[in-house]
Amino acid sequence: MAEERRDNLGEAKQSFFAKQQLINAARTTFQHLAAVMKNATLYPEAHPSLLSSAEKLLIKVQELLVDRKEVSFYLVGGELFFETHSVPIDQSLSLLMEQFVSREIGGIVFKPGLTQTEIITFARLMSKEPAFIVSAGGASAVLAQGNISHIELHRAIIVDKKVGSAIKDGKKASANFMGAIDTVKGMIHAVHLDKAVNMRKMNTTVQTMVDDILENRDAFIGLTSIKMYDEYTFAHSVNTSILAISLGTFLSLDKNQVAVLGIAGLLHDIGKVSIPLEIVNKPGKLTDEEWEVIQRHPVEGALVLSDVPGVTKMAMVTAFEHHQHRDHRGYPQVEGGPRQHLFSQIVALADAYEAITAARVYYSSRTPPDQAIRILLKNRGGLFDPILVKAFVNMIGIFPVGTLVKLDTGEVGLVVHQTRDLLRPRVLLLTKFDGSEKETGAEVSLLETVSGQYVRSIVGTIDPNAANINVKQYLD
Ligand SMILES: [Fe+2]
Ligand SMILES: [Fe+2]
Repeated sequence: MAEERRDNLGEAKQSFFAKQQLINAARTTFQHLAAVMKNATLYPEAHPSLLSSAEKLLIKVQELLVDRKEVSFYLVGGELFFETHSVPIDQSLSLLMEQFVSREIGGIVFKPGLTQTEIITFARLMSKEPAFIVSAGGASAVLAQGNISHIELHRAIIVDKKVGSAIKDGKKASANFMGAIDTVKGMIHAVHLDKAVNMRKMNTTVQTMVDDILENRDAFIGLTSIKMYDEYTFAHSVNTSILAISLGTFLSLDKNQVAVLGIAGLLHDIGKVSIPLEIVNKPGKLTDEEWEVIQRHPVEGALVLSDVPGVTKMAMVTAFEHHQHRDHRGYPQVEGGPRQHLFSQIVALADAYEAITAARVYYSSRTPPDQAIRILLKNRGGLFDPILVKAFVNMIGIFPVGTLVKLDTGEVGLVVHQTRDLLRPRVLLLTKFDGSEKETGAEVSLLETVSGQYVRSIVGTIDPNAANINVKQYLD
């Protein structure tokens, strides 16, 4: 059992690392391309600097070609993609991307058989003025005239920047969210009344959630920012489940495992049904006795779940372990017990983020999502596995979807999508604050640059409660 647990964690870590490694290799390749393009404008054809930069690019491309038929990069909406992976960009890369975009190039493909000479010819041709390229019939025509057959170009892809897909898909997501709340509510009531729990309905709900999240992770994560001021435990369970499902998906767990994770998230706090509501929802500090009662909920939860037929055993494990912490300093204390299961760690992380950002009846305002992320980062190592925290932050962004941000242009933006750069999401610019922007407002990427300078940058976040802005109207 313990071995199996380590393997699970090992696999998720491995696929996460493999993905990061691939993205790094793609980034280096594109950086070498940027260097060749720059050198082509500075040096004559046979200059050693130009030759060596072309050689470096060729080696990188050949490395990537070992396990793929072609190496292709795409430029979409100010972002760089290698295959389906978003690649983080810095200033040298954004300059090259601007150069491409102004020549109506939407991507570049390197094919087996590529030579150093082709690379140099390509770089020299693409350094010509955009007007020259247009008059010669476009970049692809210029390449054909230069006898370059192992480099192909994509035409520029125009994306509809007006309305973000996170917002468009919000309606459907919102209906499922409410459905999920009803299901969990039914289940918790049933446990209260000792009725049989409808596990089949629960499984279908979670499966639908998994399907939706696989389609659009951002939309669901956005929903978790819609906090409910009542029915706290229900909403908390659903939000935790959504976040756990998202993280599982992000870690490339398979669909069945993700569904189990979703159920585990929904049920992790079910032990709270045996704790008096006055204690669960008590505003302010708990007494020592009350704290002791609260600490029983993981054990109570595991006991309740052991009696429910059809519930995955993993939900029991997760309910039992979700407050144990990575360093085993949490509760319940188990001497020398096995380390927290990967799924318990994922649920614990989702649970913590959810609890920190939640709007509870007695909080005047909630902790903004960016601050919650900072709290998680501070606790990596002790409470949480640092790799999981890193994955979580990568998934959710430093400024999660639904965060209101202040920009250096004086504008106010609502984060609607993550990009590869965690500090530069896509935002909807807000001017009227009445929800009408989602139909007409401009959605911009904070990765956009002009002459290598970012057009907009985030200078701070805005608390929607304090500013009296109803974020929910933009997300449903
Ligand atoms: Fe809990
Ligand atoms: Fe919880």
